[in-house]
Amino acid sequence: MALPPQHIILAGFMGTGKTAVGKALATALGRGFIDTDRAIETGTGKTVSQIFAQTNEENFRDLEAKAIQEALRQPPAVIAVGGGAVCNRDNLRRLQRGGSVILLRANLETILGRVAKKNSRPLLSGENPRAKAEALLRQREPHYSKISVQISTDGKSVPAIADEIMKMLSLQNDTLTLKLGSRSYPLYFVRNSMEQFPALLRRHFSGEKLAVVSDVNVQRHFGKKFLGPLKKEFQVHLSVLPPGEKSKNLGVLQKLFKEWVRAQVDRQTAVVALGGGVIGDLAGFAAATFLRGIPFVQVPTTLLAQVDSSIGGKTGVDLPEGKNLVGAFYQPRFVFVEESFLKTLPRREFIGGMAEVIKYAAIFDASLFRDLERRMPELLRNQGESIQDIVRACCEWKAWVVEKDEKETLGLRSKLNFGHTLGHAIESLTGYRRFTHGEAIAMGMVFAARKSVAKTGLPPSQVERIVALLGQAGLPTEMPGFKKNVLLAALRQDKKRVSSQLHFVYLEKIGKSAVLPTPLNEVL
Ligand SMILES: NC(=O)c1ccc[n+]([C@@H]2O[C@H](COP(=O)([O-])OP(=O)(O)OC[C@H]3O[C@@H](n4cnc5c(N)ncnc54)[C@H](O)[C@@H]3O)[C@@H](O)[C@H]2O)c1
Repeated sequence: MALPPQHIILAGFMGTGKTAVGKALATALGRGFIDTDRAIETGTGKTVSQIFAQTNEENFRDLEAKAIQEALRQPPAVIAVGGGAVCNRDNLRRLQRGGSVILLRANLETILGRVAKKNSRPLLSGENPRAKAEALLRQREPHYSKISVQISTDGKSVPAIADEIMKMLSLQNDTLTLKLGSRSYPLYFVRNSMEQFPALLRRHFSGEKLAVVSDVNVQRHFGKKFLGPLKKEFQVHLSVLPPGEKSKNLGVLQKLFKEWVRAQVDRQTAVVALGGGVIGDLAGFAAATFLRGIPFVQVPTTLLAQVDSSIGGKTGVDLPEGKNLVGAFYQPRFVFVEESFLKTLPRREFIGGMAEVIKYAAIFDASLFRDLERRMPELLRNQGESIQDIVRACCEWKAWVVEKDEKETLGLRSKLNFGHTLGHAIESLTGYRRFTHGEAIAMGMVFAARKSVAKTGLPPSQVERIVALLGQAGLPTEMPGFKKNVLLAALRQDKKRVSSQLHFVYLEKIGKSAVLPTPLNEVL
């Protein structure tokens, strides 16, 4: 595993496993291991207990500060520091500048059990070590809480903790930041690493309570695997909704709100949207509006949600009169893009998401389009195993668009609606049952590409490439026959319509798009 060439620093209360885990980490990474307490003992020729007994704590803290500075001067190593080291502001600042600081945690029982075996802790010596440990933990907690990466060690083996830390650190290499000033947030791209999620939550939230919203299918596949580790570390209130678009409405929203009131969800609670676009849109809107806004995290489990709906902060619900008519722009705190969620996705949903992937390539990225032409059979064969670089490329485009045009006022974000004008009309005319969203926009993209030949000069050979790629992915390219007046009526519902004109997205060539106002009649 490739990790950044900087120190890995383990902090935390006595008995949380810093030394054992530090040694295991150092061995696994082929690095040196420095325990600052041991370095002090070697340097002074006295044990820590003797230093405490013969002088005072202040003297020990001076020695500790020097040992830390000396350790940081060494080539990248794994460094374990004493339990009180990070309570000194200068120490913490130096450590944070010198490497990645990770706080190991354990509950009091674990700590007392581990410490009892050693009997070498001066601060717990004498009568009633439990009360002493409790008081010391309380005193140090404000300092510990300043460390953003925290890992619980309760009930975990040393190799398992070391492995968790390495995965955690390698995540820092697989992060994309969507830059929106103080509302900026990371997208973490991971593979077979669901167990990393609790530690990431700890990095972003200090609260103990989570309101997880998911649907029946996702819960069936990932209830144990994803929620199990989460329940060990947080107090989880879980709401499992029926799957599909039928859940994305005001009635379900109200039920969710009532549930949250009963469960005493408060502003310190983080909402976790675990599911596809339906769950992300609904839970995101619920988070945006409950108590006038509580934090939320997107955990997209469909391809569509990973490349599109989980990024950019569009949240909302449908009305009987139309889709997404009520909503808010509300950005998540982070997005956890785990490739292996896609393995259990029904084939048709995966292929539906592929329509959005092809859309990004068609409107922004000719090289991504060529890549898809070359790799489509492999991507379909290894569903959820070889698509992460493609997902990331799409997310980079979506983040780029959202950074420039968050609220869709400049026309850039509207480009993402390529194929959607007709796609939405097809979905609505077929009662949202006959086609998936992806299938409908696939037909819409072919329609828009054909329109682009006359309007923006898209070469007909490129229309054929688009049809071929969609076909290769298993998406429909020819829409069913609708009467013109029926189709016109459906198009009139388009939210992007301005009086009798539509903002229609055309292609100039594969990888370059343009939004042009177009009279409704001209669209058909
Ligand atoms: N907010 C945005 O920017 C944005 C963008 C595009 C689409 N959307 C919205 O997204 C919604 C569509 O999202 P979707 O296509 O993800 O639909 P979805 O959430 O209904 O998921 C599709 C189906 O897959 C199941 N599923 C989800 N993850 C699974 C997994 N890992 N394994 C097995 N089954 C799984 C679900 O239970 C559901 O039956 C629409 O409501 C659309 O309006 C929003």
